Amino acid sequence: MIQALRGFRDILPDETDIWQKIEKLAKEIFENFGFREIRLPILEKTEVFARGIGDTTDIVEKEMFSFQDSKGRSQTMRPEATASIARAYIQHKMYSRSPEQKLYTIGPMFRKERPQKGRYRQFYQINAEVLGIDSPALDAQLIVMLQELFTKLGIKNLNTIINSLGCKKCRKEYNLVLSSFLKDLDSLCGDCTRRKEKNPLRILDCKNELCRENLGNAPLFENYLCDDCKTHFSNLKEFLDIEKINYKIDSRLVRGLDYYTRTAFEIQTDELGAQSAVAGGGRYNGLVENLGGPETPGIGFAIGFDRLVEIISSKIKSENKSSPDIFFISFGKKAKTKAFKICNEMSRAGIKTELEFSEKSMKALMKKANRINAKFCAIIGENELEKNIISLKDMDQGKQMEVNEKDLILYMKQNLKATGESYSV
Ligand code: HAM
Repeated sequence: MIQALRGFRDILPDETDIWQKIEKLAKEIFENFGFREIRLPILEKTEVFARGIGDTTDIVEKEMFSFQDSKGRSQTMRPEATASIARAYIQHKMYSRSPEQKLYTIGPMFRKERPQKGRYRQFYQINAEVLGIDSPALDAQLIVMLQELFTKLGIKNLNTIINSLGCKKCRKEYNLVLSSFLKDLDSLCGDCTRRKEKNPLRILDCKNELCRENLGNAPLFENYLCDDCKTHFSNLKEFLDIEKINYKIDSRLVRGLDYYTRTAFEIQTDELGAQSAVAGGGRYNGLVENLGGPETPGIGFAIGFDRLVEIISSKIKSENKSSPDIFFISFGKKAKTKAFKICNEMSRAGIKTELEFSEKSMKALMKKANRINAKFCAIIGENELEKNIISLKDMDQGKQMEVNEKDLILYMKQNLKATGESYSV
């Protein structure tokens, strides 16, 4: 048996109902907040991510699926979408039409991480990104928009964590202070010992117990923010308060990507074990410039789609979208041809149909009708052919009636409408 690769999984039809429902709702909400969809390639030049996310991040250092093309140029299966969005913004000079762009994109990402519950090598994200606006009100609005989606999905008990990671200017100063604090610490994990030199900020959110203990007295970034960053952060908090968003400030929230400036946030849950982040995001004012574009502020977030599904699949009742409105049973070649035609016509008219192709007995097919949860069975045999009628059995009520062949579609539409079933006019 050939199995899927480790960390890569199939999402089967019983699960896709929930995926579709979330996707539809997210699109609806994002569009109501002024976002438009962008679709991006899955494969990019490696430098998009190396330069965009940062050379010393875990993602770029060890998690990318990269390979060389026939000319030896490195290409990478995207590990995230933000750098690609910035690349597209620059490539298509989207700023020349309107510097302010509100974009969303949904799709698979790839990271070579050790697979576990809530962590896959191919996973899906719902991204929303805004380019060209540098207002703390927007930072708050993105968190409001995320909360709106979670609320509409009936998810409670999520924690919203925020922090400010400063700007180029104050980060430099803080890095110096942090580095001198770290200099004297020698009991850090292997990763953090390496990061001491290259990326000290990342040590702050290391999950290793020993590192966490040792960093208990680390200097706090909030004490080193410059005036502009301080104002931005306090304005963000005010806007969140206006919308009565509950949040916690965690000065250790650094996030794993180097492009963040000022606002960083995460939505966390207790329900997924170690993989607690359902969504994460933040401001990235230098990213577009760093990838060769004009100076452009940016902010966005990504929801971990797989994790969101895991949280809610136990909570929301999945509608059984697959059960047919009408199941066609016919006996003999002539009746089968008629069933074939009427059935197609009904599908085209927006009614969910299922056509039986076999020659099984009535008893066996009634069993099947129950198994697939058909609302009605249309039966066509010798008698029906002679009288140009369809015998229609209401499976819920057990009643059987005869309907004129030409009235069948109208009859079904009225009936499904009356019972509030899936047909909508
Ligand atoms: P991230 O924190 O790396 O941020 O990923 C965002 C979310 O994707 C995580 O909170 C998590 O829910 C989900 N996720 C990440 N890795 C995996 C995995 N291996 N398996 C399952 N789910 C995963 C970013 O990607 C940034 N681009 C977010 C952003 C957008 N920042 C600004 N704009």
